[in-house]
Amino acid sequence: MPDPQHVIAARVQDALSAAFGPSYADADPVIRPSQFADLQANVALPLAKKLGRRPREVADEIVARFDAGDVVADVQVSGPGFVNLTFSDAWIARQAEVVLTADRLGVPAAEHPQKVVVEYSSPNVAKEMHVGHLRTTIVGDAVARILEFLGHDVVRDNHVGDWGTPFGMLIEHLLDLGEDAAARDDSSVSDLTAFYQAAREKFDSDPAFAERARTRVVRLQAGDAETLRLWNVLVDVSKRYFNSVYRRLGVTLTDDDIKGESFYNDLLAPTVQELEDKGIAVVSDGALCAFPPGFTGREGEPLPVIIRKSDGGYNYSTTDLATIRYRVDTEHVNRMIYVVGAPQSLHFQMVFAVARTAGWLNDDDVRAEHAQIGNVLGADGKILRTRAGGTVKLSELLDEAVERAGAEFDKIEHREAFDEATRADIVEKVGMGAVKYADLSVALDSEYIFDFDRMVPFHGKTGPYLQYTTARIRSIFRLGGTAPEEATGPIELGHPAERALALKLLDFGPVLAQAGDLAEPHRLAGYVYEVASAYTTFYENCPVLKADDDETRRSRLALSAATLRTLVTALGLLGVPTPERM
Ligand code: ARG
Repeated sequence: MPDPQHVIAARVQDALSAAFGPSYADADPVIRPSQFADLQANVALPLAKKLGRRPREVADEIVARFDAGDVVADVQVSGPGFVNLTFSDAWIARQAEVVLTADRLGVPAAEHPQKVVVEYSSPNVAKEMHVGHLRTTIVGDAVARILEFLGHDVVRDNHVGDWGTPFGMLIEHLLDLGEDAAARDDSSVSDLTAFYQAAREKFDSDPAFAERARTRVVRLQAGDAETLRLWNVLVDVSKRYFNSVYRRLGVTLTDDDIKGESFYNDLLAPTVQELEDKGIAVVSDGALCAFPPGFTGREGEPLPVIIRKSDGGYNYSTTDLATIRYRVDTEHVNRMIYVVGAPQSLHFQMVFAVARTAGWLNDDDVRAEHAQIGNVLGADGKILRTRAGGTVKLSELLDEAVERAGAEFDKIEHREAFDEATRADIVEKVGMGAVKYADLSVALDSEYIFDFDRMVPFHGKTGPYLQYTTARIRSIFRLGGTAPEEATGPIELGHPAERALALKLLDFGPVLAQAGDLAEPHRLAGYVYEVASAYTTFYENCPVLKADDDETRRSRLALSAATLRTLVTALGLLGVPTPERM
């Protein structure tokens, strides 16, 4: 399906080159949305300046040479020299029919498919995931799905924090509790926050324990087999927990996608060596550091990326440098997207800068981007916490979402009765949809206030409203005794609401391409809402099953089916489930 903007742009370019010469064949026609038409071309204004003529005159010439064909119904000059363009209803209708049957709804595959690492979720072993991880998980999964749909080769990468000094105390604490506790989901090991805190307390108050912990770290780093086995026991408990969250949310990550910090352990020394050999890393205050140009502190002093601490240990930045090197040299990726909290922005900027200096990142071949995820705040505008000030348990948060969704569900009038199991299944999906859509609908780098009252209602810009719209379309087909797949049109556009809806459907491809290019799923989230709103207006104005005649009924059913297909596909790419009935 062609992008309406491109279709218009190409025709304006043809008119330009006919009027002003072939060198204008690929001039930017400056296509913009228009208040008075479907689109407008604003090129006459800059071009008039260049030619030393009046903009209206230039616009008149474009219009005179414009080949409207059966695509454009109306082309007119307005204001100082805008060219207003209106598609023909027939053209819009034919394109909307493509949505019904074409593979991938007629969305063209990316012209230059890339190998893209999407790194997301990345929680820490032996710690509870927090709302920040929830958001990186949800947004990252949408980014991965969107890029995949566009035909890119996507590598999902869960960079879990599974390495470092805390593992000494964690392993010793595990030994104290007895290993078999780790196998049970209701044990003191499985309550990760409590487990971590208990280990920490012992470490701080019991010198003998602290000593054991330190020895354990040394053994872990030396690759001692028994220590690694115990470490693995801890990692497994956490994986079980991560997977339970992923499954509940319908997130596509699996164990195969985990490449934790430990994965790069053997690559740290050679990475550091290369930085030393290239003269990028120098010793400063006993630590080995790189000072990427342009990064300075408050007093103008150069800021270091610490690559090896004075005690000889490597750190978070070293691992990230080794990771870049691995992805470029071994995985041969063209793009890496780090879906990670905004507070780590400086860290990534500096690490990328060092990698560029080392020649590992070269912006022509490999693009590295930090998709900065804004903080999720509580009603008080601070990081979301429980009333008691602790970190919010994700499972409790999700349970509450489902409970609230249930209350909303019971408020609305349903066309049919649901048994308890069906209701539970629907309400679970609505709860997850509410939370996920709330995370996705805000620009990813914006902070937002986590507020159930705003995310669960069945109206407004919410997941449940979108889910409900799909269920409502399905129910029209059930009532009409026909399936959406059988609705093949032809589509005829009579009412303005039909036209607006059909035209909106044609934007799916362009919006998707943009969301993928920018790694910004909120663009797709906003679009889905626009489609659902256009459908609601259509539905309120244009009877479908009770249409005046058969042709209109057929057309409206087809328009409904095309909308359903668009919504379900788009929501699927956002990871928002769409219950068949609601
Ligand atoms: N585990 C880290 C955290 O929870 C996030 C890791 C981000 N990824 C990275 N390559 N540094 O904050």
